Amino acid sequence: MKQLLFLPLFFLAFTTFSQDNAYNLIPFPAQFSGQTGQFTLSASTKIVVTPKDAAQAAAAQLLTNYLKTNTGLTIPLTLATPSMAKGKHLFFAVHKAKRVGPEGYTLAVTPDRVTIEAETPKGYFYAVQTLMQLTNPVAKQIPACQILDRPRYAYRGIMVDVARHFMPVSFIKKHIDLMAMHKMNTFHWHLTDDQGWRIEIKKYPKLTQIGSKRAETLVGHYAQNFPQQYDKTPYGGFYTQDEIKDVVRYATARHVTIVPEIEMPGHAVAALAAYPEYSCDPIKKYAVGTTWGVYDDVFCPTEPTFTFLQDVLTEVFALFPGKHVHIGGDECPKTAWKQSTFCQNLIKKLKLKNEDELQSYIIRRIEKFVTGKGRAIIGWDEILEGGLAPNATVMSWRGTEGGIEAARQKHNVVMTPGAFCYLDKYQANPAQEPMSIGGYLPLETVYSYEPTSAELTPDQQKYIQGVQANLWTEYLKTPEAVEYMLWPRAVAIAEIAWMPKQAGPRNFEDFAARLKAHLPHLDRLSVNYAKRLLDIRAETQFSDAGGSVSRDAAPRQLQVRLNKLDSDSKIFYTLNGKEATPASTEYLAPITLTKTTTVKAVTIPGETPFSETFFIHRAKGRPYTYTENPRTDSDAKKLTDGQVAQAPQSVREWVEVTGKDLDFTIDLGEIKPVTKVSANFLKKVLFGYFPPTSVEVALSRDGQDFKEAIAQPVTYPLEGPWAIMSVVADFKTSKARYVRIRAKNAGPMPAALSFRPNKATTLAIDEVIVD
Ligand code: ACM
Repeated sequence: MKQLLFLPLFFLAFTTFSQDNAYNLIPFPAQFSGQTGQFTLSASTKIVVTPKDAAQAAAAQLLTNYLKTNTGLTIPLTLATPSMAKGKHLFFAVHKAKRVGPEGYTLAVTPDRVTIEAETPKGYFYAVQTLMQLTNPVAKQIPACQILDRPRYAYRGIMVDVARHFMPVSFIKKHIDLMAMHKMNTFHWHLTDDQGWRIEIKKYPKLTQIGSKRAETLVGHYAQNFPQQYDKTPYGGFYTQDEIKDVVRYATARHVTIVPEIEMPGHAVAALAAYPEYSCDPIKKYAVGTTWGVYDDVFCPTEPTFTFLQDVLTEVFALFPGKHVHIGGDECPKTAWKQSTFCQNLIKKLKLKNEDELQSYIIRRIEKFVTGKGRAIIGWDEILEGGLAPNATVMSWRGTEGGIEAARQKHNVVMTPGAFCYLDKYQANPAQEPMSIGGYLPLETVYSYEPTSAELTPDQQKYIQGVQANLWTEYLKTPEAVEYMLWPRAVAIAEIAWMPKQAGPRNFEDFAARLKAHLPHLDRLSVNYAKRLLDIRAETQFSDAGGSVSRDAAPRQLQVRLNKLDSDSKIFYTLNGKEATPASTEYLAPITLTKTTTVKAVTIPGETPFSETFFIHRAKGRPYTYTENPRTDSDAKKLTDGQVAQAPQSVREWVEVTGKDLDFTIDLGEIKPVTKVSANFLKKVLFGYFPPTSVEVALSRDGQDFKEAIAQPVTYPLEGPWAIMSVVADFKTSKARYVRIRAKNAGPMPAALSFRPNKATTLAIDEVIVD
């Protein structure tokens, strides 16, 4: 199913308003009131700070630099004196009422002066971020307003994985700038994983000498090629301790705390390649991971391993001044521990129930060590399994349940559920996007997330510390690729994290309009953000021509409405398969289609051309019944919704049945001519998607007697890339009301491929087209 975006009528009016007005703040402040007039910057304007107030001076310097670069005006810092008070200047002052909190500020802009008040360095810094967004650099004006601002959540984060692909210091600094611009305060730096160890540890030099390098890297998507292919190109990279100190200084100056992550006890193969003695089988040879997914080899909880981990953490504490260190804890297979005599004896000795409790034992010991050093741990939600360590903060990623459970146990929580916060998922049609891990998470879905669950009592809700975007980099090789996935979706996370409830309910159209006006700030920093916001979205509506009730008396028509969020742009389109250009027909009203047609369109200005084939066929919109129930409600419509799954990497459009044959019957509503029936099946061997071994299509007038049938075997090689396979039954001229399709499941995985724990295979089918 394609995500349809229905734009309410008031939206156009709102967009216009929003573009005319200058208050396009992101994240939106807690209390805001726009006023008439503006403050005009000139050569005689000064920035006035309180003597000996270093926090004010630092924020004021930032503002001076910004204004110099963007308006060309040199606005000097001046110390406050009684005579200054009457001038038309920008004044920094201590917030006397003490009601804005550790990150808050007030900002008052009138035609006569700008007043910035805060209680902390962070407060001044965020006030300046707001002023930078408000200033119109061309007019050299700041629109009048009153703002009292403070964040909703104390933790506003982004995680970037630099283990799968290494990101240079220059990128990390730019990323920190971008976070600060959006009032985000925590950078979670995922520094170690199976595929690379990226932080220099002086006591264990092999961690980077060996662990930072892999022999080669998987080509394409994990499930794309069978057998998998590798690029035969060594890959590596790590940060020296000096580089890390430099990044930490840079982040501190921008009020961003870095939470380093050292993964344990799983995701540790890179470390084990360097120091196999900390594995459960030290004789075995370990190589830094070259493919994605979870590796079975993990740290073995021996005393030397604890010493090693504590030594590593000790060097990490010396580099990172923040309170929290992330110790991972996710996706730790128990295979190695089950096979290890040492682990089994340890389980008995410690009177543990199982390997889950062994994992909990490891996390608790590390937590005790970390707490003893005056720091605190954060771990992925698996650290709940086998019992939570006392002072642990839980990062809820597999869903929201882990976070809810941890809050009930009175533990701090950072919400980062995959369904809303995993920005490694596709943000638009996978067929038109760079390779990603899979899934679908458009901007509007990210923006809809509410981190504080209503299932919690108000007391429990206080444990929800904040929200974080996560970006894993298996398929992201360059800083540009990382930026494309992060921005602007991370702006949505920033607003969720900052905008207090008192600012009003979040509204996507309002956000999108402000975001459009905000994009020049991303351009200013040369951010390679996804311009999908400007993309065309299609809405379709079927109607019977002339309002006829009988579907066959008049041909069905499809109305295609092309929408865009940007009211300043124009749409041009073609219906003949040629690429659209500004010389094509301008889109002014919905397009009526009476046969299957590919609509190609562009927005000017715009980014990604639109192309979609709308299938008009006799089964479109018709109901069908399964002999087996569909897995989800939407499966009850997907097969005949007129939208054909376009890409093997996307699973949201496919209807899936695992371990069973498919058998379903479409009701065309009345007896109609049927000449051809076709359906697509997915082949994606490494994820267990196998096309059927045979397909039978049968026709009936009464739903009982299926006389006419075409049965055909389906053959395909297991080897080769993932693919969409089309099966066609050609009836030439027939009439029927019911179309029955039976597709035979390929059966269990062939023995040679039995690497999947779930050995049954899945049939995935989309759009049955009846002509
Ligand atoms: C995770 O995504 N494995 C935390």
